Amino acid sequence: MIAGGVIITIDGPAGTGKSSVARQLAKRLGLEFLDTGAMYRAAALLAIEDRIDPSRGEALAARIADADLHFEWSRQPPALMLGDRDASARLRDEAVDDIVSEVAAQAPVRRLMVSLQREIAARHPRLVSEGRDQGSVVFPEALVRFYLDASPRVRAQRRHDQLLIDGRDVPVEEIQRSIEERDRIDSTRTVGPLRVPDGAIRIDTDGLAQEEVVSKLDAEVRRRIPTERLDSTAAGGLAR
Ligand code: DC
Repeated sequence: MIAGGVIITIDGPAGTGKSSVARQLAKRLGLEFLDTGAMYRAAALLAIEDRIDPSRGEALAARIADADLHFEWSRQPPALMLGDRDASARLRDEAVDDIVSEVAAQAPVRRLMVSLQREIAARHPRLVSEGRDQGSVVFPEALVRFYLDASPRVRAQRRHDQLLIDGRDVPVEEIQRSIEERDRIDSTRTVGPLRVPDGAIRIDTDGLAQEEVVSKLDAEVRRRIPTERLDSTAAGGLAR
């Protein structure tokens, strides 16, 4: 990690509210926020658009490398860009949901993403990074590593409520089945599987409101990182 850098990782399965929690935590601490799921989702979008079979890891990695995948940090939250195109609005498409686990299981894709994520951290060294392998593989040296968990039922209910806001009424049972299937793929893949990083602080979010989770994490971070380091004037990263 770069001197003066502050990297905090948040990993865990889908539906734990990780993304919102990570974003709010970053805001409270004056850090930037990296949504690594968005990067895998962008890779899935490229596969769909270019009709690349998600099992063709090498071809996919080559396409991603070519696509100039990066974040536009001036937006809040940062926008996922493919070249000049803001792809953020497409990342939650059902078609993306359907194949993203398989895309994320491809070793060449993961290798590329891990190196892109480390490059991002080199330019944006004050970061809350959220995903599945951030504390275990990408930033094992992170100052604080969190693992958020919740029961499949609660996660399905949260996803259901989120989809309703988008006007999609999908039965909770159906969502729960697909969440469990996604967990299975994410945690049994051979490269970068979802697991609790060594030394991670594990938080069960069942029955906790999002604000409460954020406050818990905030308190854990402040207990471990001196205020001077958090308040460093090095805040604010580079353009890319
Ligand atoms: O967190 P999310 O739902 O946006 O993640 C989308 C997919 O990408 C999900 O299948 C898990 C995968 N992913 C991953 O394998 N590694 C990461 N660091 C982030 C996400």
